[in-house]
Amino acid sequence: MDKVNSSVVSEFVLLGLSSSQELQLFFFVFFSVLYMVIVLGNLLIILTVTSDSSLHSPMYFLLGNLSFVDICQASFATPKMIADFLSEHKTISFSGCIAQIFFIHLFTGGEMMLLVSMAYDRYVAICKPLHYVIIMRRRTCTVLVMISWAVGLVHTLSQLSFTVNLPFCGPNVVDSFFCDLPRVTKLACLDSYITEILIVVNSGILSLSTFSLLVSSYIIILITVWFKSSAAMAKAFSTLAAHITVVILFFGPCIFIYVWPFTSYPVDKVLAIFYTIFTPILNPIIYTLRNRDMKIAFRKIMIHYSRAKKISERPVIVRNSVY
Ligand SMILES: *[C@@H]1O[C@H](CO)[C@@H](O)[C@H](O)[C@H]1NC(C)=O
Repeated sequence: MDKVNSSVVSEFVLLGLSSSQELQLFFFVFFSVLYMVIVLGNLLIILTVTSDSSLHSPMYFLLGNLSFVDICQASFATPKMIADFLSEHKTISFSGCIAQIFFIHLFTGGEMMLLVSMAYDRYVAICKPLHYVIIMRRRTCTVLVMISWAVGLVHTLSQLSFTVNLPFCGPNVVDSFFCDLPRVTKLACLDSYITEILIVVNSGILSLSTFSLLVSSYIIILITVWFKSSAAMAKAFSTLAAHITVVILFFGPCIFIYVWPFTSYPVDKVLAIFYTIFTPILNPIIYTLRNRDMKIAFRKIMIHYSRAKKISERPVIVRNSVY
């Protein structure tokens, strides 16, 4: 606590995505719409997965949890970024900045591990179909979800432990739309070289190890499917293609930013949009447009709610006719 107080900087200035007035107005509208789509789309997935009994399988439990993480991930910085498009002075308090760093690493760490869990689920389903029911019990799912959050928590706490004690005494301009750890450490008035290395090693170990787990599980699945029927291949491939798209669009920018953070490129903050905004929107798009079971379940929900709405409107009509 003392160390935090001894630093002079009490707030950071965020430069945002652009300084052009017209562009900011455009971004305001664009990202507001995007954010609403993210929240509504993922809420719809959670609602569908939890209310439709035909989707009570491990794959959909994990998908529902992924949607939840996606909403969290889209919400820790995006609303502030959107509001900032309209404001002259884009500042964030010191503790707000630390909070953003905490959440981004919690959610991205959790999401990485959750993607691994989903890949593991597909691996068991395709490569060990006879044992699927035994291996992927409800318990297993719960444990996988808990492990994901634990990995995110350990990851973010270790990142923060490197950062919180850094002295910040002068420069406080962060060239991004949120407090991105590599950029914030650069502002410390101590030589932050060691800290930067620790951050890279920490992020690098997590992202590269989960990434290689994912890639190897996809390779094993594809090889297994290769020797089965072509119908199985087509079905597995359409599911896997969805997973692989998410994985590439999510991990690509993460690895680019965190594994080479010593020189920050201007493109970094554009890439940061990928894992704060584009990954959370991919889920609804991929899983609703491509997955037949999800589409059927959606339709059921829509019909259910439109019926419920009609029934709830009925008393009003009756009353109108009475009075
Ligand atoms: C998340 O996973 C847990 C454990 O399997 C499950 O009970 C829960 O319903 C899931 N949440 C959603 C929103 O699907």
